[in-house]
Amino acid sequence: MTQKAVAAKRIVTCDPARATAADPLGVVEDGVVLFDERSVSWVGPRAKLTGGIVPEDFGDRVITPGLVDAHTHAAWVGSRHAEYAMRMAGSDYRAIAASGGGILASQRAIAAATEEAITAELASRLERMASLGVTTVEVKSGYGLEPEGEHKQLSAIARVRERADLPNVVPTYLALHALPESARSSRDLYVLRAATKLVPELGGAKLAEFVDVYVDQNAFSVEEARLVLEAAKKIGLGLRLHVGQFADVGGVALAVELGASSVDHLEHVSDADVAALGRAKIPAVLLPIASFTLGQSPPPVAKLRAAGVPLAVASDANPGTAPSESLPLALALAVRMYGLTPEEALLGATRVAAQSLGLAGPGLPRPRGMLAPGARADLAVWDLPHETAITQPWGLSRVLHVTRDGLTIHRR
Ligand code: NIG
Ligand code: FE
Repeated sequence: MTQKAVAAKRIVTCDPARATAADPLGVVEDGVVLFDERSVSWVGPRAKLTGGIVPEDFGDRVITPGLVDAHTHAAWVGSRHAEYAMRMAGSDYRAIAASGGGILASQRAIAAATEEAITAELASRLERMASLGVTTVEVKSGYGLEPEGEHKQLSAIARVRERADLPNVVPTYLALHALPESARSSRDLYVLRAATKLVPELGGAKLAEFVDVYVDQNAFSVEEARLVLEAAKKIGLGLRLHVGQFADVGGVALAVELGASSVDHLEHVSDADVAALGRAKIPAVLLPIASFTLGQSPPPVAKLRAAGVPLAVASDANPGTAPSESLPLALALAVRMYGLTPEEALLGATRVAAQSLGLAGPGLPRPRGMLAPGARADLAVWDLPHETAITQPWGLSRVLHVTRDGLTIHRR
């Protein structure tokens, strides 16, 4: 173990123990973070640092917890640029999907790729995410669709997960994303196989920590989702749901009933469901890059906030609806389009995102998404004078230095 220390003008801790109404991010001015590969040991003002330690000094800059991207489809290969151009010229996302493009186009690319090729693409993508200040990334399968392809994607994700020089990876089996051509006339069997065979197989092999389902019009029904999610819950996997991206078909009630870890998208959600999410304290994962790309209206953020729903923000990185790998861009849009405060956006991409992934929460040892004694040493140094500025410089990286589990994974 090597003891290290970094200092800067503002240490944004996101530590709930330090947060106040006036300072929701728990900022330590002229602060120092002491850490090693296991965890952070101390955070406090430079004047109180003892033991003759000389920190690496980042001057008038900002240090935050490493960002946590709680919703990505980053294990894709190939490109859907032609489809994007068609959409920008007026074609509809769901019409393209119904005619064999969209998710099915990515399925063909996964089927044609080797596990090594998927691993390599995912690794480069994660490297670029690290250069944007990201230290944890949830990665979903869901472009395999057939058992072989799903296995291949999740095996590639597992390989990348072993690398300490990339962001920490949380694997999710996206069990119901789109119906492959082969299952057109055997829809029930497709869903049943996911629930009874693939969930136990992939969960048992530790290839997935979460199971996700896409509950929407032109996707899967609540009944279909229930079969898969109940099977996942039974073997101790966490549950995530894509709900209300295009229409409200009732996914939130299922998420609340089963105690899901997150509900994601929520462009279409009823007031009653917002209240239920608030009571259950299930984080909403907001995906502003996707609704921006699709030209949609934002989710009812003011209502979600008023109901006490924890708000996370994620990139949704995917080749169809969110053609970006940038969580900072998602934060910029969350502020500009969704009306989050910069503080809410930052918490939504650190502590709240970590909480939705089971990586932070009351009493949880070695949490991520915050800088506090005992937390994992994941941090980003920004070449910016204030944390509010993180949600401002669109489209470029202002990150100087990124540490994950005490090791430098990016330096500019
Ligand atoms: O989160 N909503 C479904 N899944 C993705 C899009 C997938 C794709 O188009 O490849 C999303 O937006
Ligand atoms: Fe998604």
